[in-house]
Amino acid sequence: MFRALAFSSWVLAFPLGLGALTPAEAAQAVATPAKAAMQPVPIPLSALVPQPQSLTLQVEQAPFVLSAQVLVQSSEVFSGPARSLAQSLGLPRLPAGAALATGARRIRFEQLSQDSKVSGAYRLKIGSDEILIQAAEASGAFYATQTLLQLLPQEAKRTLSEGRFELPAADISDAPRFEWRGIMLDVARHFHDVKRVKGVIDQMALYKLNRLHLHLSDDQGWRLAIKAYPKLSTVGGRGDHSRPDAPAQFCSAEDIRSIVSYAAERYIEVVPEIDMPGHSGAAARAYPEYFDGLVTFNPAKPETYRFIDTVLGELAALFPGRYIHFGGDEVWVEKTRWAQMPEVVAMAQDLTPAGQAPQMKYVEAEFARRMVQLIQKHQRVPIAWDEVIAAGLREGMVVQWWRMEHPEAVLTALNQGQSVILSPSDRMYLDYAAGLGEPGAPWEGNTGGPVSVEKIVAWEPMPQGLGEAQRQRVLGIEAPLWTENVRSEAYLQFMLYPRLAAVAEVAWRQQARSEPKAFVKRLAPHIARWKAQGLNVRGGLADAHQYRLH
Ligand code: ACM
Repeated sequence: MFRALAFSSWVLAFPLGLGALTPAEAAQAVATPAKAAMQPVPIPLSALVPQPQSLTLQVEQAPFVLSAQVLVQSSEVFSGPARSLAQSLGLPRLPAGAALATGARRIRFEQLSQDSKVSGAYRLKIGSDEILIQAAEASGAFYATQTLLQLLPQEAKRTLSEGRFELPAADISDAPRFEWRGIMLDVARHFHDVKRVKGVIDQMALYKLNRLHLHLSDDQGWRLAIKAYPKLSTVGGRGDHSRPDAPAQFCSAEDIRSIVSYAAERYIEVVPEIDMPGHSGAAARAYPEYFDGLVTFNPAKPETYRFIDTVLGELAALFPGRYIHFGGDEVWVEKTRWAQMPEVVAMAQDLTPAGQAPQMKYVEAEFARRMVQLIQKHQRVPIAWDEVIAAGLREGMVVQWWRMEHPEAVLTALNQGQSVILSPSDRMYLDYAAGLGEPGAPWEGNTGGPVSVEKIVAWEPMPQGLGEAQRQRVLGIEAPLWTENVRSEAYLQFMLYPRLAAVAEVAWRQQARSEPKAFVKRLAPHIARWKAQGLNVRGGLADAHQYRLH
């Protein structure tokens, strides 16, 4: 994310969002949550998000009456989702093989041997006597429980402790389209702590999203404690986008473990990103000896790679997931000091084909190649933003496409044998305004209008004309929320909700089929529910107006 080059007129109506305000002002500057808090808002079957692939209402059957006496029964393989469902509803468990007493009712988990290509398929049968959840894998069983939780009031445990709730008899058969259904949170520009991150994870889980990418470092801050290099967090963690003198803010190893396990219980994998070689100003403040005097690593120093290797080793120990993201975006060699550093010039000379003047693009490519090697050495799959395609690397890594003005990057990456995550900025960047004149990032030339819910759901992500093998390597989609402007939790929520639900719909549905208008209608109870929970959700223009006026 580069800084504003030009402000469009609608942005001037709301200069810089809330980024320039003090915390007290920022707290005031958001719409207060609806005071009608906590009226129960179950989601009707017809408004589930993401919309299940197949849903049959069994009109001839009586509804299932859910009360605090209903038992939850599962075999060991589904004990995770069964336990968390029982806990969130306050229901007792029934041992796996135990018979059900006459007249008793249960929610029963059963394992199937078949699954769809992408894991997460499930079947949810709501009958008069029993709710049956069938899946091949625990993630599918978990998604069935999330469907069930959407159908119940948001405070279901309390509702059940006071009474009962009727669920219409129905048969749902469901499976995700993409294996990668992600949200990216930038905790570097403004720090967002464990509690906030877990709040986002809760909503991701309810909408069946499964990748949380944390952008942990940038020019404004380094947000992760690294034992071998403590100044990364104690010095690099100081300051943020709106307050360069803010005290150090970062996640301890304990914080990360807590986030990772909270996410894993919800079938969400956390993907850490350390952005390199550019966007590294915070690390440069802490350990200038590995940098160019500005915000970019010195790629010609062997010590630089030893430093990075150690950091990656700690990252791999903290994040048990399969991936490490090394950034690689927006190096802008002309803004580095590389050309004034004799050792980098010598490196460029070595790398440039004979007969050509030395070019720094070969240095950038070599740096990317070394990052890939190091990350693979730590037994993780490397990911980088799509600028990395220029390095001509081959399979064994993932490219995250974001530059909407370079649609060809997707095909280039696929032709290089790489897998791809789709995050085109004009559809997926949640730092952009959701509506005209609303708060949001003013940069990157988002000429296609605001990133509205309608614009997100109108998107068919799969590029046309791909062969089957190439389609297989399109892993899915991810919506980044960059936080130069986003400091308060209320602002964070305003940018995430309800658009997170639209992202989930696109990631899950088989292809673009929902009419944007119909989707907006389906969102209405979700928005009401979020508001009832006290979240600062954008319900429409009126909310934005209120947001702006405060
Ligand atoms: C990016 O927005 N620079 C990935």
